[in-house]
Amino acid sequence: MKPYPTVTTKLVILLGNPLGHSISPPMHNRVFERLDLDYCYMPVEVTEENLPTVFAGLARMNVAGFNVTIPHKTNIIKHLDELDPLAATIGAVNTITVRDGKTKGYNTDGEGFIRSFEEETRSTVHGKSFFLLGSGGAARAIAMTLAFHGAEKISIHNRTAAKAEDLADEINKKIRPCAAAAGQPPDSLRKSLAESDVLINTTSLGMHPQEEVLPLEESLLSPHLIVADIVYNPLMTRLLKSAQGKGCPIVPGLGMLIYQGAAAFKLFTGVDPLVDQMAEVAHSLMAARQ
Ligand code: ATR
Repeated sequence: MKPYPTVTTKLVILLGNPLGHSISPPMHNRVFERLDLDYCYMPVEVTEENLPTVFAGLARMNVAGFNVTIPHKTNIIKHLDELDPLAATIGAVNTITVRDGKTKGYNTDGEGFIRSFEEETRSTVHGKSFFLLGSGGAARAIAMTLAFHGAEKISIHNRTAAKAEDLADEINKKIRPCAAAAGQPPDSLRKSLAESDVLINTTSLGMHPQEEVLPLEESLLSPHLIVADIVYNPLMTRLLKSAQGKGCPIVPGLGMLIYQGAAAFKLFTGVDPLVDQMAEVAHSLMAARQ
């Protein structure tokens, strides 16, 4: 590996705002280095106003691809030449490749969740019933990808009930009729959870600095559920600790971040990354922050 970027180095740019918290740059750079790939991953904070100019300029440089994060995952789409069908269905992009001057958008968030889930639980999402808390951007990517991968049923519960209904309708129309909004009263929540195999928290509840917050009443957790949280700061959320206390298998959120990065790495370079090394970097950076 060259000690510093040269004129032949291919750049991968992370676009978002703010980016101070992101662990993606060291996660990718460490693996580029270990695999002796002449790539360099750089965070570039950009405002919504400047996004069109900055993106158009960078896409004409020696750039192999982009990762895109909050707040640009949706509004970047209109600037792309092509869109992968799953990203089009989700309506958000987190990864862009640049080949022969053409940009193509993908969404690896849902794939990242599924791979993390399947690795941690040594099972498949196919045929399982899921209960999703939340209906924001992350929930959309996860729910649509679960439907693509043959989930039996997806029940969605959200503070703003209308958004859960809209998301379920969209999944049923665009992918397969497998989704429904879970009702609000505790009885209907209990019933939906009893019929589900997996609970996934996609809300920000429980995230640092509000680590004591639970996204649902503890009494609703039962040992038959696999409990996944996409919050990864802290690594063990209160939800995961409560679930573990009840004997539920758990899926911590850092895995989704690592595997969405691994899927993006493959798209940028064509090379399978060293996922264990990405995980090692991610865990050591997060441990330093706890
Ligand atoms: P992301 O892109 O990370 O998914 P988002 O699109 O802002 O973020 O979505 C955040 C999700 O967390 C939403 O489902 C939101 O519920 P609303 O649709 O009702 O806003 C949920 N959420 C955030 N704060 C919440 C709170 N205090 N109580 C319940 N749900 C909350």
